[in-house]
Amino acid sequence: ARKDFVRIVEVGSRDGLQNVKTTIPTAVKLALIRRLRDAGLQTIEVTSVVSPRAVPQLADCRDVLADAEIQALLRDTQLRMPVLIPNLKGLGIAVEHGVREVAVFVSATEGFSKANIGCTVEQGLDRARQVATRAREQGLAVRGYVSCVFACPFDGPTPPAAVLACVQQLLDMGCYEISLGDTVGVGVPADVKALVSHLLRAGIPVEQLAGHFHDTYGQAVANVWAAYDCGMRVFDSSVGGLGGCPYAPGAKGNLATEDLVYTLHQAGVQTGTDLPMLVDIGVWISRTLAQPNSSRAGSALATA
Ligand code: HMG
Ligand code: MG
Repeated sequence: ARKDFVRIVEVGSRDGLQNVKTTIPTAVKLALIRRLRDAGLQTIEVTSVVSPRAVPQLADCRDVLADAEIQALLRDTQLRMPVLIPNLKGLGIAVEHGVREVAVFVSATEGFSKANIGCTVEQGLDRARQVATRAREQGLAVRGYVSCVFACPFDGPTPPAAVLACVQQLLDMGCYEISLGDTVGVGVPADVKALVSHLLRAGIPVEQLAGHFHDTYGQAVANVWAAYDCGMRVFDSSVGGLGGCPYAPGAKGNLATEDLVYTLHQAGVQTGTDLPMLVDIGVWISRTLAQPNSSRAGSALATA
């Protein structure tokens, strides 16, 4: 058995919830974060501080961040509790609430950049640089996302060179890790191998890459395994397979945390998480949101 460790970045409370149409009470979001923490997750993307017109579901981000229990988690130096931030306005709000880590995000493609943040890729990189630079000056850690690494819902297939350019610039602006987002969830393991090889050949350290797979075509677990074989050890996932981006038409939820953990634990790879607890959270949150549980392992284990 492999004694390796994979770090899971739980994005359920941000990517997972951002596209849910009915307003979720803040108390449910808080309970979700607390339960994810209790299940052993050490990195949880709490929320985003974006335009409430762009993502109405997370308009209560200040209430989430100000909650006493969240405040304690934000101060816990054993944990990473990033908050997704598009601009300096968002950074200011995050810093006021004691956030110690932010995530900036760009798209490798023009079509999605325009739809998601209303500007070109170049302008998006400039904005991310402003946020990352100010955040680093204030002592915050910064994570970076590149969206549409395999394909764009508007522009078709993405050239690996476009992904590389974004990854390089995000690292240059001080991001400690870059999450490669298959926003629409169309990539397959062969695509993962091709892209990661391209990045590694260009000198990007594998330790600074993370995988962020959406499961639209049911490829997310296979993509993780391909990335794992390339040496990657950090993966984003969402309990119950919640999620999707409102600006990526047709995209389904994130890789389910339960599916990820099942795959890794069965291979002897440690994650520090408790699978039965994750399964319970997936069942609970799916029921609470009146959605089907999108985790295959979670559904199977819940009825086993
Ligand atoms: P804009 O309309 O050009 O911005 O949007 P603006 O500066 O003109 O502001 C518009 C309004 O929003 C103003 O309010 C601002 O104050 C407010 P008004 O004065 O009209 O009442 N505003 C804010 N409020 C709170 N926090 C802020 C903030 N910024 C402005 N930070 C902008 C440009 C980038 C702000 C907007 O397009 C936006 O917020 N986009 C974010 C969209 C988003 O969150 N998408 C989902 C996350 S990305 C994703 O899911 C992909 C990922 O998972 C990886 C993958 O799967 O690929 C990460
Ligand atoms: Mg995503």
